Amino acid sequence: MDPRPVGVFDSGVGGLTVLHECLVTMPNEDFVYLGDHARLPYGPRPLAEVREFSREIGSFLERQDVKLIVVACNTATSAALPQLQEELRVPVIGVITPEAHAAVQATRNRRIGLLATQGTVESGRYASLVRALDAGVAFHPVACPRLVPLIESDDPYGEETESAVREYAAPLKEARVDTVILGCTHYPLIRPILQRVFGRDVTLVFSAEETAREVAETLARKGIEHDRDRDGAYRFLTTGDQAAFREMGRRFLQLPIADVEHVALKELTAA
Ligand code: DGL
Repeated sequence: MDPRPVGVFDSGVGGLTVLHECLVTMPNEDFVYLGDHARLPYGPRPLAEVREFSREIGSFLERQDVKLIVVACNTATSAALPQLQEELRVPVIGVITPEAHAAVQATRNRRIGLLATQGTVESGRYASLVRALDAGVAFHPVACPRLVPLIESDDPYGEETESAVREYAAPLKEARVDTVILGCTHYPLIRPILQRVFGRDVTLVFSAEETAREVAETLARKGIEHDRDRDGAYRFLTTGDQAAFREMGRRFLQLPIADVEHVALKELTAA
C-alpha cells in the first residue's frame, strides 16, 4: 500500500483526457495534475526546449512526493521520455507506445495516418515504433499546428476548428488510410468533429484508455496501489490563469474541479 498521489502533466488541458480515464480506472488513487499553460503550446517549440520543460516539471512533481509520473502529452513524451526515465527515481509512463501498438493491431489495409504536433511528427517516434511492429505499414504523418491553440480557445467546436481538421485530414484521406492515430492528448476533446470528417470506416486511435490501463498495471505490479476501499482525491496546478483552467478544465474533464493552485515558473525552474 502506498498513499502517495500519481503525478500527471501536460502543456494545458489536453492531458485531462488521460486524467479522466485514470480517475475512472483507479477511483481509489489520488492524483495531482499540472498544466503548463504559461508555456503552451509545446508543439511548435524545439524538442530540446520541451525536454527542458519536461525535466523541470518531472523533478517538481517528484518534490510533491508523487509515486509515479504520467507524461500526458505526446510532444513531451516525444521530446523527453527516456531522459525522464533515466533521471527520476519514480516510474514514468508516456503516451506514445500504447497508441502505436493499437494502430498496428487495428489496421486492415496497413495504411496508418498520424495527426500530431510539429514536435511529435519531427521526433519520428511514432514512425519508428510503427516500423518496429510492422515494417510493411505505409505511415503518413501530418503536423497540425493550428489544432492545439483552437482547442484551448473560447470556441473549440467552431467552424475554424472544423475547417482546420478538414485541411489536415485531406492528405490522409487521399492516402486511403483506414486507421488514424490521434497523437496529441488535446485531440479527443474534438472527437465528434474528427469522427465526422473521417467517417465511421476509419478507426481513430486515442491514448487515454490504454495509458490508464498501463498506469493501473504498473501500480499493481510494483505493489504501490492505495487502499481499494476509499475515494481518491485530485488536485490541479497551473503555471497560467487559474480561472481559465477551471472553466475549460471542467468542460473537458466532465468532473468537478474545485480549486486550481498557481505555480510560478520560477518554482519549476528551482526544482
Ligand atoms: N497535449 C499536448 C500533446 O499531446 C499538446 C501539445 C502542445 O502544447 O502543443 O502534444
